[in-house]
Amino acid sequence: MKLFLDTANVAQVAEIAAWGVLDGVTTNPSLVAKEAKDGTKNPLDAFKKTVLEMCKLVPCVSAQVTATDTEGMKKQGLEYARWHKNVVVKVPMTVEGLKAVKFFASKKIKTNVTLVFSAAQAMLAAKAGATIISPFIGRLDDQGEDGMSLIAEIMEIWQQYNFKTEVLVASTRHPRHIVDAARIGAHICTIPYDVFRKLPGHALTDNGLRKFQSDWGKVIGQ
Ligand code: E4P
Repeated sequence: MKLFLDTANVAQVAEIAAWGVLDGVTTNPSLVAKEAKDGTKNPLDAFKKTVLEMCKLVPCVSAQVTATDTEGMKKQGLEYARWHKNVVVKVPMTVEGLKAVKFFASKKIKTNVTLVFSAAQAMLAAKAGATIISPFIGRLDDQGEDGMSLIAEIMEIWQQYNFKTEVLVASTRHPRHIVDAARIGAHICTIPYDVFRKLPGHALTDNGLRKFQSDWGKVIGQ
């Protein structure tokens, strides 16, 4: 399973990319707003700079369109795709978005269809030609549903029809989400920075290492 970082912060991408395990980044307007500096004269230029810096670090960076009509999405997506070959145009799961995805597919521009909350939406996005679909599991869990069962349902459908579209598990909240997504066979999981940093650690690893160090210290007389 590919691991993506869900962030608009370049320093976070650089830090995790240095671990040698990072396959991509997903951004969204809320994440970009969180990182925006007050008084930025041209927010689009700032966003472009962020995306370009990320493209130097990972092979796949999702940049979300903010237009809600097909023509606006096409215009924004074409511009994003010109920025760098690693850019994937992120499009919302709406009828207008589906039409834009079809257009991008005809131009061989990669897309990530976001805000997917049902298997029906997932199928439509795949049929329109999405490169990636992003079902949001944490937001389903937040309202008392079982987000991971949506991933299981989508993967079951994918096996029946051999859809080429990759299933990206989004809106993850804790390490168990990442493990469960991998067990189901999801293609990609995008992970917030704080959750990513929890993945390598284990108390028994720390205790074990401390003991190895102390025993070795005795051997070499420290
Ligand atoms: C995915 O591409 C989204 O950016 C993200 O996973 C949304 O997560 P949230 O529900 O924590 O906002």
